[in-house]
Amino acid sequence: MIGAGHVGLPTAAALVSLGHRVCCAESDPERLRVLEEGGVPIFEEGLPEVIRQGWREGRLSFVGSAGSAVDDVDFTFLCVPTPERPDGSADLTYLEQAAVQIGPHLRSGSVVVNKSTVPIGSTRLVEQTIARQDITVVSNPEFLREGTAVQDSLRPDRIVVGADDQDAAARVGALFASTGAPLVVTDAATAETIKYVANTFLATKLSFINAVAGLCDAVGADVRDVILGLGYDRRIGFDFLRPGPGWGGSCFPKDTHALLHIAKEAGFDFPLLQSVIDTNEAQTRRIVSKLEQALRDHLRLEATEPVLPGRSVAVWGLTFKAGTDDLRESPALRVVSQILESGAEVRAFDPTLRPHQSVPALPVSLVREWGALGFPASRLERLTVASEATAATEGASALLVLTEWDEFRRVDLPALRAALAEPVLIDARNLLDPGAARAAGFRYVGVGRP
Ligand code: UDX
Repeated sequence: MIGAGHVGLPTAAALVSLGHRVCCAESDPERLRVLEEGGVPIFEEGLPEVIRQGWREGRLSFVGSAGSAVDDVDFTFLCVPTPERPDGSADLTYLEQAAVQIGPHLRSGSVVVNKSTVPIGSTRLVEQTIARQDITVVSNPEFLREGTAVQDSLRPDRIVVGADDQDAAARVGALFASTGAPLVVTDAATAETIKYVANTFLATKLSFINAVAGLCDAVGADVRDVILGLGYDRRIGFDFLRPGPGWGGSCFPKDTHALLHIAKEAGFDFPLLQSVIDTNEAQTRRIVSKLEQALRDHLRLEATEPVLPGRSVAVWGLTFKAGTDDLRESPALRVVSQILESGAEVRAFDPTLRPHQSVPALPVSLVREWGALGFPASRLERLTVASEATAATEGASALLVLTEWDEFRRVDLPALRAALAEPVLIDARNLLDPGAARAAGFRYVGVGRP
């Protein structure tokens, strides 16, 4: 396994669970140190247990150099990052580096399996970089979600393998045979296309339901019942139809932009996909507008009067979704950035983030992602991260719930009402019961529900 990150580690864990032996190469010395000491550098349910089991049984090991991981193996999985370049295309530097490093060390007859999400045609690029007739390169895209990655790898909906060499494709498929998942064997370019299209389709569903939630707000309908009425139609289903503050994470934003770039380069006009991205960006603004409107209504301010400057707003949830500590492309950070830009201060709580004892008090991962998103560092002066949910709400003018952790569902409403200076509650994930919130004295605003 080349790369022991969000894809490599869960994939390694799944292969170990399926009875295989795995050696992971990790180039980041700090991450490697954690792994060698028996730790797990990412937050992923069930991962520490499988990794410990792999260690105990001697079927999982970690090394620093890619070359030394591959000289005695039948399959080499490439699980390296393919970050977004400024023009939206995928940066293949890590993939090419990995191919260069492993090329001379691969055992004759072994198969190189690319799991990284790559532009269509990249399997060929890896083949050309390795430049060995005795090695086959295949594409085997991953569909696992952060937070449930181990379970997703052990119980995949399907295995997709793209290769010219059908025998190599069958051998890769056989590694996962005991999962019982259907195997789709195709050519490499089609497998690479499947990966992008799967993610952009899911992003399309989410932009669609977020737009429908906006429509429900406008016409006074309840999006939760709309979803019920839709979901029982088996052609539509219930999955991936929860409205929220927009979609984010390490895949959807990067992959939607990359596919748009790929389509453009290929001369294919794809306005639908552009609209999916634009709708997602508009969702951030919509959530901030809900906050402004609710506060304005509560304080009986004129429509033209600025409502956020000088106020304190509490935020629960900063990661891109619940169940992970990953802040990458988090819609919550976008919302927070806009609130800060409007002149308010934000006091945030996230179950996975702890403030530093020293100055600067913000978690390093947050400051890093803030920079990556291109938000001005000056805004961070008005952001604090609290170590407890209640501490963030003390004296705040409103609470915004931005991720769907269960502990937020179980909030003690009267205690929350007592802590906040104004009883304004914006539930951007529709976690709470509006009736109960209103009965506790809140001005409750959800997404697409009256
Ligand atoms: C995604 C794909 O699901 C996975 O198949 C692929 O391999 C990697 O990208 P992940 O990035 O872990 O996985 O997140 P996912 O659970 O898909 O959520 C993506 C975003 O959509 C998050 O911001 C999440 O909060 C949002 N979302 C998801 C919703 O707003 N509503 C939903 O109903 C589902």
